Amino acid sequence: MPGTCHEPARSGFYVQFWLPHAATDSLLAKAAAKESFDLIMDLAAPLPITVISDLLGIPDTDRSAFTEYGTLIGEGLSGVHSVRQAERLIAVGEDLVTMFDRLLHERTAVPGDDVISDLAVAAGQERMTARELHGTALLLLIAGFETTVNLIGNGVRALLDHPGQWDLLCSDPGFATAAVEEVLRYDPPVQASLRIAHTEVELAGRTIRPGGFVAVLLAAANRDPEVYERPGDFDITRSGGPDHLAFSSGIHYCLGARLARVEGEIVFRTLAERMPLLRQAGPLRRREGSSIRGLSQFPVTF
Ligand code: HEM
Repeated sequence: MPGTCHEPARSGFYVQFWLPHAATDSLLAKAAAKESFDLIMDLAAPLPITVISDLLGIPDTDRSAFTEYGTLIGEGLSGVHSVRQAERLIAVGEDLVTMFDRLLHERTAVPGDDVISDLAVAAGQERMTARELHGTALLLLIAGFETTVNLIGNGVRALLDHPGQWDLLCSDPGFATAAVEEVLRYDPPVQASLRIAHTEVELAGRTIRPGGFVAVLLAAANRDPEVYERPGDFDITRSGGPDHLAFSSGIHYCLGARLARVEGEIVFRTLAERMPLLRQAGPLRRREGSSIRGLSQFPVTF
């Protein structure tokens, strides 16, 4: 884990390979000490939170507050159900901005090898405004907390629901890379995206006026029968099809796609190697809301 004498110097390798590996090992070791565990709470959720916190350079002293903010903001994505929750979200948003401003200030004085230090440099060179900095920090937090968790949860669910596919992965964990792509196609965490027309455009026979919204149903496109053979089948040996839209497309293509893919691959591979008898051990609970699709509870035993 970070902080041990075996930790390699920070680099692309450190963030995109060593850190997710070390975090997966540590979380799975804790989970394996129990008879059964919750795949979401014990593995899928804490893994990306650990990785994004490290990537941003959140100090140990701020990690529990950062995790609390991220969790509350993430829950807000499923809908705001009371005035109390709305007030709490506003307060948390303000606390988060305060925390980022403090960290930016600290990293401007003493830069580190992390994303907040890079953002501090960009701000110093006036390449980003304060508003853009806060927006970027919030986006990275949400993306880090609310997406990869569901790639892992939806993926393990699809694999266990299709025992032939799980057996294939266990017999050859090299299929983990393909499994990640098939999970992202078959059951993507982000269901839809929005675009706003800057100019008048014609789309599928409709005129979209400037300022008009278009909702793009990414998950539906991933099962387009004109694009994929047997679109409803979960098949990790699928090959040759076009790229799915789970990470969207164009100028807003997901910035964290590579990191999410690495995290998913490490988890699927490690579970297949270490827990081939993995199976569901109780009722699933689905998270609320429609924009993000995933599970909030997934008891398993191995
Ligand atoms: C399986 C995991 C993930 C999925 C399914 C996912 C999905 C997406 C999608 C669909 C978009 C495009 C939204 C749009 O079209 O407007 C997006 C954008 C983005 N994602 Fe991800 N994401 C994942 C993980 C991550 C991670 C781990 C990070 C950060 C480390 C991240 C950072 C971002 C950022 C910054 C953008 C905005 C890019 C832009 O607007 O230029 N994502 N993501």
